[in-house]
Amino acid sequence: MSAPPPLASGPDGPDALRPLLDTVLDALRTGTAARRGPLPAGGPHTVAAQLRHALGDILPDHGDPDALRTLVTALAAGAADPAHPLCAGHLHGPPLAVATAADLAASALNPSLDSWDQAPAASALEALVTRALAHETGAADALVTTGGTESNQLAVLLAREDHGPGLRLVHGTNAHHSLPRAAWLYGLPDPVTVPAPAGRLDPDALDHALRDTPGPHLVAATAGTTDAGLIDPLPEIAARCAAHGARLHIDAAYGGGLLFSARHRTRLTGLDTADTVALDLHKTGWQPIAAGLLTVRDPARLTALRQRADYLSAADDTDAGLPDLLGRSPRTSRRPDILKIAVTLKTLGRTGLGALIDRVCDLAQDLAARVTARPGLHLHAPPALSTVLFRPAGAPDPTVAAVRRTLLTEGHAVLGRARLDGRLWLKATLLNPHTRPEDLAALLDLVEGHTPR
Ligand SMILES: Cc1ncc(COP(=O)(O)O)c(C=O)c1O
Repeated sequence: MSAPPPLASGPDGPDALRPLLDTVLDALRTGTAARRGPLPAGGPHTVAAQLRHALGDILPDHGDPDALRTLVTALAAGAADPAHPLCAGHLHGPPLAVATAADLAASALNPSLDSWDQAPAASALEALVTRALAHETGAADALVTTGGTESNQLAVLLAREDHGPGLRLVHGTNAHHSLPRAAWLYGLPDPVTVPAPAGRLDPDALDHALRDTPGPHLVAATAGTTDAGLIDPLPEIAARCAAHGARLHIDAAYGGGLLFSARHRTRLTGLDTADTVALDLHKTGWQPIAAGLLTVRDPARLTALRQRADYLSAADDTDAGLPDLLGRSPRTSRRPDILKIAVTLKTLGRTGLGALIDRVCDLAQDLAARVTARPGLHLHAPPALSTVLFRPAGAPDPTVAAVRRTLLTEGHAVLGRARLDGRLWLKATLLNPHTRPEDLAALLDLVEGHTPR
C-alpha cells in the first residue's frame, strides 16, 4: 500500500500544508476573477450545472490530485462573496483575513472542546476569552455557540430548566424566528407575540402581555433586528420584566458589535440587566462562521447543562483537577471557534473593532442619504445600525421582489428583502468596511436601472 496522505498537524504538517495553501489561494484568485461580480450570473440551474460539471464523479475509483484546485475554484466562481461591495443582502459579513488564518490553525490542530485531554490550551483560552466577552455585557460567563440561533435556543433551554415546562416565551413580532422555534423544539407552550410597531417591541404591550398571560415568563428582546437593525427599548423592557418577575433574554446577535464602539456603545444600555445575551461575532465581529456566544449573568444557571460521560469527564478526573468541559455546550465534539475570535480581539483591539462598527454604521447613513436624494427611490426610515431599507418609489410589491431576483440571477448584486409596515422593502445590510461611496451609488443605479417604469 502507498503511504497514507500527509496530515495537517504534527512536525510535518506545516510543510504538507504550505503547497496546498498555495493551491487554495491560487484557486480562490482564479475562481473569484472568473465570477466577475458579487455572485455568479445565471441563477440556480446554471450555477448547479456548472458545479456538477466541475465536480464530475464525487467518489472515483482512483483519486484525483487536482480535486482541491478544481473544487475551490468552482466554489469561489459560484460564491456570493461578502467581500464584494455589491453583496449586501444579509447579516453575512466578510471575514477578516487574520481571523480566517487563525481558523486554519484551529482546523490543523483540531482541538475538541469536550474534554481537556483533547484541548489543553484551547480550553484555557476559551475560559479566558468567554469570560472577558461576558464582562463586556455585564455578565459573568459565556458559552461558545454556532451563532445566534444556538444562543437563542440555549437561552430558552436554560430558562426552561430553571422555570419548568410551563415556561412561556414572550417576544416581539420583530424577534428572530429562532426564538419561537426554540419554544417549539423544547415543547414549551405557544409563545406570546407582542406588537412591535415601527419594528421595536412596545413596552406597554409587553406589560399587558405579562399581566394577562400566566407565567413563568421568558421575555426575549432584540438589540439589532434582522429586518431593520432596530434596537428594542432595553431599559423600559427590563423595568417591565423586573416588575412582573419575568426572566429577560436579549438577542444581540446583530447589535452586540456596538459594544466595541465608543461612539455607539451606550445604545446598548440595559444589556447588563439581561439574564442571558446572544452575541454573534460572525455578524458584527468579522469572523468566519461559526462564532456565536451566549453570555449568562448568573453562572450557577449553567449547572443545568452539567453532564457526566465517563470517557470525557470522569468524576475522579475532575476531582483531580481536569476541567470538566461537557457542561459548556449541549454539543460533544466542538471546534475551537474561540481561537479566531481571540486573535481578532487582540490584533485589532477595542479601537480597531470599534472603527469597523463605526464605519459600517456611517456607510448606512451615507446610503440612506443617497436614497433620499433620488426621487425614484423611497427610504423606509433613517438607519439604526448598518441596515438600510428602501424601495423603488411607487412600485408594487411584486415588482420590488422581481427587481431583487433579477439582480441576483444576473449576478449584479445581492440585496435582501424585508416586509415592514405592510410593504415589501429591499434590504441593504452593510457589513463590508471596504465599501466606497461609489459602490453605494452603483448599487442604487442597479436598482433604478432594473425597475420597469
Ligand atoms: C437578530 C438575530 N438573531 C439570531 C440570528 C440567527 O443567527 P445565526 O444565523 O448565526 O444562527 C439572526 C440571523 O440573522 C439575527 O438577525
